[in-house]
Amino acid sequence: MAIVEINKETCTKCNACAIICGANLIIPRENDYPRFFPNGDEFCMRCGHCVGICPTGSLTHKEFPLENCPPIDKTLEPSFKQVAQLIKSRRSIREYQDKPVPREEIEKIIDVARYAPTGHNMQEVQWLVIDDKEKLKEMTAIGVDWFRSMAEGDAPWAVEMKGVVKMHELGINIFLRNAPVVVCTIAEMNSPIAAIDGVIAASYFDLAAKAAGLGCCWNGFFQMAAQSFPAMVKAVALPKGMRIYGAMMVGYPVFKYQRIPPRKEARITYYS
Ligand SMILES: Cc1cc2nc3c(=O)[nH]c(=O)nc-3n(C[C@H](O)[C@H](O)[C@H](O)COP(=O)(O)O)c2cc1C
Repeated sequence: MAIVEINKETCTKCNACAIICGANLIIPRENDYPRFFPNGDEFCMRCGHCVGICPTGSLTHKEFPLENCPPIDKTLEPSFKQVAQLIKSRRSIREYQDKPVPREEIEKIIDVARYAPTGHNMQEVQWLVIDDKEKLKEMTAIGVDWFRSMAEGDAPWAVEMKGVVKMHELGINIFLRNAPVVVCTIAEMNSPIAAIDGVIAASYFDLAAKAAGLGCCWNGFFQMAAQSFPAMVKAVALPKGMRIYGAMMVGYPVFKYQRIPPRKEARITYYS
């Protein structure tokens, strides 16, 4: 069996599958059935567009049968206004309720975020979820040591770091903000595409988490420390060759935002 097969009894010869194939492995033919490259196995991105676009369910991909491709429920399509509201009202949440987030809740959100686009549909992004109180405490202590090491250096942010250390000494957790969970996207260190994929997936998680009633805040501090501060590198213990591309604190927000603060006007360039 070729990687893709069509049911000639139901195919309408619209050739949409061929026209949208991102890898150009299906050749459109006027008033005829589309033709498939015989060695499609090798080059197919497994994106499933061909199955997803077929209006009559006539196309089968060897690796994901139709029953694995649920129909899109059109009644659930959000309006532009709803999407705009979700995106514009998402805020970085830094105050969390002292309440654990069930793993099923995190997994529910990851299950959505894993649909984020990935270069060449490689889907190489993996997820690291840290929800163990003791581990988070240990990481916070290491984070403060990292802040201290930064405060001692002559980097431009040393002064800010001194202030951050002081706040920790006063019992204010700037590093992990007492979040009950930290979620990271991780991917291959040497792949520039995986790096972008990791950031996009984390962004999808951020938005989906808001829709699920949770709040996130990206944590660049954590990400930097996990990359370069030996004690944190050891504590995070990433699989060999992997890097964190998005790190976010996650939890149930204490406060609810009432207004959307302004952002810079979009700077758009057109070539005319
Ligand atoms: C890559 C990245 C790293 C960030 N790192 C931190 C961080 O370490 N700590 C923190 O409190 N906020 C962090 N933030 C949150 C930003 O400060 C926040 O996105 C920005 O102030 C705008 O606020 P908003 O997200 O509510 O729109 C980070 C955001 C991004 C995108």
